[in-house]
Amino acid sequence: MVDTAEQHPATWWEERYASGGITWSGNPNDLLVGEVEGLVPGLALDLGCGTGGDALWLAARGWQVTAVDLAQAALTQAAEHAASAGVAGLITWEQHDFDVSFPAGEFDLVSACYLQSPFAFQRLETLRKAADAVAPGGTLVVVSHESFPSGGDPHPEQYMPTAPQLLSDLALPDGAWETVRAEGLDRSKTKPDGTVVNYRDNVLHLRRR
Ligand SMILES: C[S@@+](CC[C@H](N)C(=O)[O-])C[C@H]1O[C@@H](n2cnc3c(N)ncnc32)[C@H](O)[C@@H]1O
Repeated sequence: MVDTAEQHPATWWEERYASGGITWSGNPNDLLVGEVEGLVPGLALDLGCGTGGDALWLAARGWQVTAVDLAQAALTQAAEHAASAGVAGLITWEQHDFDVSFPAGEFDLVSACYLQSPFAFQRLETLRKAADAVAPGGTLVVVSHESFPSGGDPHPEQYMPTAPQLLSDLALPDGAWETVRAEGLDRSKTKPDGTVVNYRDNVLHLRRR
């Protein structure tokens, strides 16, 4: 259980990665892959990249990726994996706390996969900046937990809208975006101890006109 009153978010995430509390699966997020695999590669921005599974997958398919996270320990591990995979030259790693700063530039794809935390942060405002960073003709993909697997860290202060609610909350200019997908999915996974946990994710996939 995370004591969000006592712990500092950056320290908590750093320690989580540095201690091996989050390990590298080597795989991209399946819900991102489903949305992106048909797109023509260009410039991509991966927000909250963690240990880089999505960034490496994108780079291996020809995207030039800027991958961003709060935790330097995550970025360091991700960069090592990128070097081993031979895609280091296609990925730029940037450390940002999205409550404080946001990467510069305009991108053909902006993704935010499970950019969620036990600590309160400006998630909706960050996702608005994510939309602003999409180039004309480009794509925004936000993959989120809509409910959490039992046994995980509770996220009591978390902003966890459905995909249609997020779309509404983003308050994007009328007519400027096409909704490709805005839907929730019931999911389950088997933990290492054999326990099956159920949860709900959602995907918001928008194309900028
Ligand atoms: C649940 S993990 C998801 C990581 C990765 N996208 C994935 O799908 O495996 C959330 C990530 O968001 C990052 N994060 C949390 N709060 C942040 C903030 N305020 N600014 C930037 N990154 C943050 C964490 O360090 C963590 O890597």
